[in-house]
Amino acid sequence: MPDTKILVLHGPNLNLLGSREPEIYGRDTLADIDARLAALAAELGVAVDARQSNHEGELVTWVQQAGAEGFRAVIVNAGAYTHTSIALRDALAACELPVIEVHLSNIYKRETFRHTSLISGVAMGQIAGFGAQSYLLALRAAVETGAADK
Ligand code: DQA
Repeated sequence: MPDTKILVLHGPNLNLLGSREPEIYGRDTLADIDARLAALAAELGVAVDARQSNHEGELVTWVQQAGAEGFRAVIVNAGAYTHTSIALRDALAACELPVIEVHLSNIYKRETFRHTSLISGVAMGQIAGFGAQSYLLALRAAVETGAADK
C-alpha cells in the first residue's frame, strides 16, 4: 500500500452518472471514474479512497476525519453543494489538507446559480469542464505539484 493516500469525494447525484443528463455529464458511470482514478493512482504510486454521498453532513464528517485517517489531500466534486454548502466549505478550510475542486461540466458556461463556488476560496485550484478527465487531472495535480507530499 503506497504511503500517500488521497481522499476523493463525490457529492449528491453523482451516483447517477452514466444516466444523469449524459449530454452534460457524459456516459461514464461513477464506478468507471473510480476505476480510472485507481489505475492512475497505481501509476503515480499513491492510493485513492473514493466515496460518494448524497448527504451534506456525511461529506462534512468525512472531511473532518480525513487528517486523522492519514489522507494527504482531498479531491472534491461537491455537486450542487458547491454552490450552497458553507458547512462543507468550513470543513475543508479546517482540515488543513490541500483541496482540489473538480467538476465534470464547465460550471461557468451554465446557469448563473452555478457560477458561484463556495469551495473555490478554500481550494488550491479548480478543474472543471473535462468530464471524467477532470478527476484524473486533479489527481495528477495533487501528486505532481507535490501538494500531497506535505
Ligand atoms: C457538477 C456541477 C454542479 O453544478 C452540479 O450540481 C453537479 C455536478 C459537475 O461536476 O459538473 O451535481 O459539480
